[in-house]
Amino acid sequence: MPLVTTTEMFKKAYAGGYAIGAFNVNNMEIVQGITEACREEKAPVVLQVSKGARAYANHTYLVKLVEAAVAECPEIPIALHLDHGPDFETCKSCIDGGFTSVMIDASSKPFAENIEITRKVVEYAHDHGVVVEAELGTLAGIEDEVKVDAHAASYTRPEEVEEFVAKTGCDSLAIAIGTSHGAYKFTAAQCTRNEKGILVPPPLRFDVLEEVSKRLPGFPIVLHGSSSVPQDYVKMINDNGGKMPDAVGIPEEQLRHAAELSVCKINIDSDLRLAMTGTIRAFFNEHPDKFDPREYLKPARANIKELVRHKLVDVLGCAGKA
Ligand code: G3H
Ligand code: 13P
Ligand code: ZN
Repeated sequence: MPLVTTTEMFKKAYAGGYAIGAFNVNNMEIVQGITEACREEKAPVVLQVSKGARAYANHTYLVKLVEAAVAECPEIPIALHLDHGPDFETCKSCIDGGFTSVMIDASSKPFAENIEITRKVVEYAHDHGVVVEAELGTLAGIEDEVKVDAHAASYTRPEEVEEFVAKTGCDSLAIAIGTSHGAYKFTAAQCTRNEKGILVPPPLRFDVLEEVSKRLPGFPIVLHGSSSVPQDYVKMINDNGGKMPDAVGIPEEQLRHAAELSVCKINIDSDLRLAMTGTIRAFFNEHPDKFDPREYLKPARANIKELVRHKLVDVLGCAGKA
């Protein structure tokens, strides 16, 4: 099947109590690792491209890689989504350039301005058969080179969501309930430590999610910053010359619970980066004489695939839903 929008996927995910995985893509191995897992697990998927990805790999290369995945995996629905679109022009360029979904992220702007920018993107997108994700509330962490400190982050205010959705016409809404971008989601001071000395982050604000869902019945909610920062990969990185102390993510049980509620799309990027980097670091430590990129990218791609499979089956609940 050709590229799809997220409309059908989200409708089924909402009704079925699961979420679609939205994975960031930057090169061929990442596209292949994700989509091979989705094909084998019969899972619908959102492949998403950030402004940084477009700057790195070039819009056309990324679209063509995703089109190749669509040709290789005709039996699963795949949406191509712009992640954190910073302005109308970037959204327009992706809408004109083959994307089926865009995010306009004006969440750092005042409420009225966020509505105005989002509505303009929605009008253009809907005229072209493309769906729009918007955002209310501010996540901590690093996204597209912008660092938001924990103290500047703010939870979504449930009392704003009905007006926002009614006035913008957006198709899904990303909210801030305590997730955060990157591999260092929380400072040690924000966490407690378990018996193994591993940092345990503060729990997600399910009260905010439930209040939002009550006000927007049936409406698809999105969670950004939802990597769990697997400690095995952090250890693999640190055991092989890396230095990532106190990297900590969102516990997978909490993401599973969010997926059972109104969360229909869960964004995961950092976990894939950790898998790729850990695998490559370990490879070079074991084989200091090797220099063929295919030799170290092959196990990196395989580990991305297994990590995505685990997310589809054990966290998102979307395996078998294609
Ligand atoms: O939320 C941001 C995504 O992880 C994309 O990251 O801007 O480094 O491509 P990036
Ligand atoms: P992570 O950094 O937690 O993987 O979040 C990715 C994301 O939200 C992409 O938009
Ligand atoms: Zn994000």
